[in-house]
Amino acid sequence: MKDFGEYHLCLKRRKKSEFFVKVPCILRRLTMDDREEALALHRVMASNANPELFVPGTDEEFLHILDGGGVILGIHDGRRIVCMRTVLFETRDEEVLREDMKLLPDQMRRMAFIEYCVVHRDYRGNNLQFLTCFFMEDLLWDDFDYFYTTVSPRNLYSLRNVMDCGFYAFHLKERYGGHMRYLLRKDVKHSPSIRMKRHVSAPLRDYRTQQRIMNDGLVGYRLVRNTSGVWMLFGQLIK
Ligand SMILES: CC(C)(COP(=O)(O)OP(=O)(O)OC[C@H]1O[C@@H](n2cnc3c(N)ncnc32)[C@H](O)[C@@H]1OP(=O)(O)O)[C@@H](O)C(=O)NCCC(=O)NCCS
Repeated sequence: MKDFGEYHLCLKRRKKSEFFVKVPCILRRLTMDDREEALALHRVMASNANPELFVPGTDEEFLHILDGGGVILGIHDGRRIVCMRTVLFETRDEEVLREDMKLLPDQMRRMAFIEYCVVHRDYRGNNLQFLTCFFMEDLLWDDFDYFYTTVSPRNLYSLRNVMDCGFYAFHLKERYGGHMRYLLRKDVKHSPSIRMKRHVSAPLRDYRTQQRIMNDGLVGYRLVRNTSGVWMLFGQLIK
């Protein structure tokens, strides 16, 4: 894997509800030297997470990633880690890779599972989920061709960001013990062409219709908001 240096970012931090200050921060790869602090943040998140929105995984899974089973980027504001983005170099969803993504064994080895991104409340609104995805893509460019991730249809902030990063939804099914998730993929080396001209759409809350549309081979590529809520637009992949 490529080396990853340090990047200096000046981020806005929320002081009171509508009052911001600018804070110089550093983006870098976290290592086992960051273990205590990173694990503490992971634990805070895990204890507050609503599984309908987001399941962060166990301490062991987190440490496995930090120890080389994947990679973690972190942003530090001089006092604490304020953002983490984790990627696992394997997935427990082999069936999805084989059956739904139609990856061959060689291709499976070139697939990374984008686990999660968390941003401290005070730093939300700096596009860090989006930004860290692109840094991650650059870091993993030589070693991986496919990214796979899951996002809850109720986690709108995350879903919007993930789709802005170039992921498209190819399935909607239960994951993590019965919680609905979009399954999304990004082909890192090829920008997908999606036929948008004759697109169809469905409300995010209408799981059945969306599942039917995706079973017909269409993929979800954009979110739009109208008077009846947020809808997903679906189009045909042009291969
Ligand atoms: C999802 C998440 C990483 C997005 O953070 P982010 O990259 O800072 O989000 P954005 O920069 O796109 O934020 C866009 C706007 O939405 C707001 N926003 C983002 N996440 C929000 C949240 N969870 N609740 C309320 N508002 C939120 C931001 O404040 C910003 O508002 P503004 O335009 O008025 O400034 C962050 O919400 C988070 O850490 N959530 C908890 C963990 C999680 O669900 N992770 C995703 C699973 S992988």
